[in-house]
Amino acid sequence: MKVVVFNGSPRIGNTYTVTKVFMDELAKCGELELSEFSFPKDLPEFCIGCQNCLRGPRENCPHKTYVDPIYEAVMEADALVFATPHYGASCMPGSMKTLFDHLAFMEMTIAPRKEIFQKKSFILTTGSASKQNIRIMKSCLTNWGVNRVRYFGIKMYTNKWDKIPGKRRMRLERTIRKRARRFYHLKKRSPSIKTRMKFLINRSVISRFMHEGNYPYDYWKDNGYFKKMPL
Ligand SMILES: Cc1cc2nc3c(=O)[nH]c(=O)nc-3n(C[C@H](O)[C@H](O)[C@H](O)COP(=O)(O)O)c2cc1C
Repeated sequence: MKVVVFNGSPRIGNTYTVTKVFMDELAKCGELELSEFSFPKDLPEFCIGCQNCLRGPRENCPHKTYVDPIYEAVMEADALVFATPHYGASCMPGSMKTLFDHLAFMEMTIAPRKEIFQKKSFILTTGSASKQNIRIMKSCLTNWGVNRVRYFGIKMYTNKWDKIPGKRRMRLERTIRKRARRFYHLKKRSPSIKTRMKFLINRSVISRFMHEGNYPYDYWKDNGYFKKMPL
């Protein structure tokens, strides 16, 4: 299985540790081909809002040097793992959000990628395991059309994994491993009714309100999306 892991914490801390446990268990389940990106290191620029990627091919992004390897890894992967701490206001760190900003062109409102509809994804969060943090990430992924999104919010109550009392730490580790095994064996299935509906609604909006010679109309046409759902 080809897996791409995104780590939203700039330090080797809780998120790094729990991701290691998760990935370690995935590796025990079968062969893994792994690509890893850490933020902000691998995407040190904020989206500058130029909208080049919303009005034309993604290659027009001024941060293409950073975005290209990430985009290619996402396209090639079978599974996407997003690991992130929770920073105030129930959200992910800005450095992780900038990933979703830079890839927003893949949302079904703009230029959905047919490859995405086949992928599964796992969200792993540390901190207070804010439901809102998970909800926001989940909604970004379902807007891309990701086939299945699973998640586990780990309530840490400390900024150091080692400070978690032994018994609780062992229990958490067991749960992370169990979720990793389940995720590995999660079968691909047809996209949900919700995904299909989103696709059809956006197709109708684009075909009615946009015109040939414009982006993303041409993107949808060239990919045959007006004739057939890429699902
Ligand atoms: C700027 C900042 C804001 C944070 N805000 C919260 C918060 O609102 N609620 C919470 O439970 N933890 C919060 N935390 C703690 C981290 O989410 C938590 O310690 C996390 O596990 C750290 O992950 P890391 O060790 O991988 O960096 C915050 C940490 C930072 C640096």
